[in-house]
Amino acid sequence: MSLAKRRGFVFQSSEIYGGLGSVWDYGPLGVELKKNIKERWWRSMVHERHDIEGLDAAILMHPKVWEASGHLSGFTDPLVDCKQCKNRFRADDPRIKGTPGQPDAQCPVCGSKGTLTAPRQFNLMFKTFMGPVEEQAAVIYLRPETAQGIYVNYLNVLQSSRQKIPFGIAQVGKAFRNEITPGNFIFRTREFEQMEMQFFVKPGSESEWFEFWRGERMKWVEGLGIRSEKLRWHQHDKNELAHYAKDAYDIQYEFPFGWQEFEGIHNRTDFDLSNHQKHAGKKLDYLDPKTNERFIPYVVETSAGEDRTTLVVLCDAYREEEVRGEEAAEGGEQRVVLKLKPSLAPLKAAVFPLVNKDGMPEVAHRIHDDLRRHFNVFFDDGGSIGRRYRRQDEAGTPFGITIDGQSTQDQTVTVRDRDTLKQDRVATAQLVEYLTQKLAG
Ligand code: GAP
Repeated sequence: MSLAKRRGFVFQSSEIYGGLGSVWDYGPLGVELKKNIKERWWRSMVHERHDIEGLDAAILMHPKVWEASGHLSGFTDPLVDCKQCKNRFRADDPRIKGTPGQPDAQCPVCGSKGTLTAPRQFNLMFKTFMGPVEEQAAVIYLRPETAQGIYVNYLNVLQSSRQKIPFGIAQVGKAFRNEITPGNFIFRTREFEQMEMQFFVKPGSESEWFEFWRGERMKWVEGLGIRSEKLRWHQHDKNELAHYAKDAYDIQYEFPFGWQEFEGIHNRTDFDLSNHQKHAGKKLDYLDPKTNERFIPYVVETSAGEDRTTLVVLCDAYREEEVRGEEAAEGGEQRVVLKLKPSLAPLKAAVFPLVNKDGMPEVAHRIHDDLRRHFNVFFDDGGSIGRRYRRQDEAGTPFGITIDGQSTQDQTVTVRDRDTLKQDRVATAQLVEYLTQKLAG
């Protein structure tokens, strides 16, 4: 967390006012890292497949959507209140001793006995009002998942793109949940982004597609460069399943605070489409042009949290290690390095004039100007070259380009690899090609 703040990945929201609970802002490096992850997801889901279309639905939706989807009645957490100190907890808070509502229950904050109420259901959706009048009829909600924007548009997309079932719709966007026990940095927040894809299939074929998408999603996650021993599957048991799901598997990562989910693959059956058909009074069935059969499609959903995936990428890349050899003082030196996959790194290279004289800054500025037409590149002429390397190690920048005395003579530079610390001498004219090759994948 301290590196994320120091280097401009993540800041606390409204920090100068003491912060806003579990809401975070992404700084200059964080926004680039997130963008790279989202682009990678979009490319693999939408651009590289013929059977998935993109969508960007609005966050605000007709309030009946949430009645139909079951979120108004079912998207709740059981909460208990302490009558003494007025704090509120999830009923399953492991710090609570005894049974809430009973005389033996003890408040985990003030320690009073018998003051905890019996659990009551609390809806996790944020409410607001549409229009100038704050009355019940004007209540609308901030969406708690992006999926519903896809369901209510599925026929629009199907017809306008001339797709046939099986086909999918992908979307990246914000979702909001008034989480009761948020925490662990950007792991559980009240405002977050999801990368969701709903795949519409013929009833009866959903199990096959479910397995297919489980395989595809794990491959995608491994493609982010995450160590495979830190990844595992977790199948939901009956008590864990969301109100819409018949079967669900999470992809979990071993975070510093334990194994936790960051993506789910769900068999949502025809739950959502059938309910929208009923509540909206509009036919949402599909006519199979080959068999002339009519059916409401089943949905296999892949639902990834963008912020959680970013946290996985950051945690997995974070290393503290000892550097020896030329770059380190005698006896070795500690460094913090983010070993981000180069294609995900916010900055692709940093350009350093070795010293600020003898024509080196001018050459370095020319190279920087040329490279930044192709990549996100940083320029740094402050402090010793060792210090500049360390700063870029912490930012996860895969390549350091140094302009030295030889550069002004023979138009070559050194390119230092963040992970191996090896340096190549490369002709300035070849730099774009050299970096393009190294950044692929
Ligand atoms: N449409 C299905 C759905 O929303 P979910 O398991 O509730 O399913 C999917 O959420 C993903 O969204 C999670 O795996 C997680 O990565 C992310 N997510 C959910 N709640 C979150 C929160 N409060 N903060 C950050 N990410 C969250």
